[in-house]
Amino acid sequence: MAIDVILGLQWGDEGKGKIVDYLAEGYDIVARFQGGPNAGHTLKFDEKKFVLHTVPSGIFRPGLINLIGNGVVADPITLAAEIKKLEEAGVDVRSRLLLARKAHLILPTHRYLDAASERAKGKSKIGSTLKGIGPTYMDKTGRNGLRVGDITSSYFEERYRSLKEKHLSLLAIYPEIDFGLAEEEEKWMQSLDILRSLQLADGEYFINQALKEGKRILAEGAQGSMLDIDFGTYPFVTSSNTITAGVCTGLGVAPGKIGEVIGVSKAYCTRVGSGPFPTEQDNEVGERLRQEGGEFGATTGRPRRCGWIDLPQLKYTIMLNGVTQLAITKIDVLNGFDTIQAATAYETDGRLTEELPYDICDLDVRPAYETHRGWKQSLDGVSGYASMPAAAREYLEALEAHLQVPVTMVSTGPERNKLILKGAKAPAV
Ligand code: GDP
Ligand code: IMO
Ligand code: MG
Repeated sequence: MAIDVILGLQWGDEGKGKIVDYLAEGYDIVARFQGGPNAGHTLKFDEKKFVLHTVPSGIFRPGLINLIGNGVVADPITLAAEIKKLEEAGVDVRSRLLLARKAHLILPTHRYLDAASERAKGKSKIGSTLKGIGPTYMDKTGRNGLRVGDITSSYFEERYRSLKEKHLSLLAIYPEIDFGLAEEEEKWMQSLDILRSLQLADGEYFINQALKEGKRILAEGAQGSMLDIDFGTYPFVTSSNTITAGVCTGLGVAPGKIGEVIGVSKAYCTRVGSGPFPTEQDNEVGERLRQEGGEFGATTGRPRRCGWIDLPQLKYTIMLNGVTQLAITKIDVLNGFDTIQAATAYETDGRLTEELPYDICDLDVRPAYETHRGWKQSLDGVSGYASMPAAAREYLEALEAHLQVPVTMVSTGPERNKLILKGAKAPAV
């Protein structure tokens, strides 16, 4: 068996959680492979809404195993709180959640370092979610990190103390920030007891054994490909590999084991935090997209920057990920627009290009647009692709023609059942 992948093709918040929750029914295992509580994946069904940060979006599907993979960085405090909330909602978490021993731990002092580093950057700050993601991955690659598997060892407290001391001495080089370490540390230690009560796993053995047994596995990405540490709009990125390659290192599977790669993109585009966004509409169009789309961060509540879909950007992330299918979300947000724009190229230095320039953060990149007619109607009653308004189909088919990847899913609302399947490859759920 192969492992299928769902990941974001833009700057995050594409609606990955909704698509994973929908498709999870057809899988035995859902696994997160990178990121941490910087993610906010929203699921809506049965009039209920849940935002997941570290727990995979398959948790609501009975009988399905959810793995938090080794590539994830987990904050015991937020993870324990998430588990508590799910349990209060009647979800059987314990028997269906596995946590990889090789996943790294976010310490309270990682969060302080994140805040101090952002403060020191001033105007050029990344716009981090301040969840401690960057400092935790720094300790991982710097070979200083603490891992989930360490929490059951006798040396744990000693290593924790020495890492904390290192962080405190590092914090001294930054402008002072307020923090209440004693209180947070106590919460963190208490939350570790919750983590100890979970099923800890050698994720790489678990996943490869499951593949051998013919289990169907779905890897769930967090953030988006334009926030990838290598290929995103560096330095305005997150600190992990968000692209398909991250599945291999974040779960311990060989490249040949990757199956379908489902790329999720909004029918327009958003970004939260700093950094380049060529098709941003910092005007009434952007404001309208924000209001219609409820574009406020699921993790931080920050207003998301909004703009038109960017085809050179999508071509780039489709190339990096080996995308085999597209899921286009939030098309309903465009219902009221007379016309819809799609960027087809960039103009820089008087020259048109379809490639993302290396120095995208410093250049004046002006998108060239093509215009599509709007459909000016609600999609509420639409049950199948054929019954979508002609103009909406035209828009989707134009995207396919540009991107050369079939659109197999179209999301028309936040609820689980608001999804239209399209074409021969569409999942049989
Ligand atoms: P994720 O991080 O990729 O899982 O996405 P988020 O949950 O951060 O943001 C997506 C937002 O759009 C959430 O509020 C979803 O409930 C909502 N959403 C998802 N799909 C659709 C859709 O097709 N239409 C509308 N209107 N909202 C959607
Ligand atoms: P999901 O999984 C959108 C952004 C932050 C910031 C940059 C670095 O919900 O799509 P970090 O906290 O990782 O150091 O922040 O990345 N960012 C996200 N933007 N969706 C996310 O996750 C994000 N996770 C991080 O806003 O610009
Ligand atoms: Mg999100």
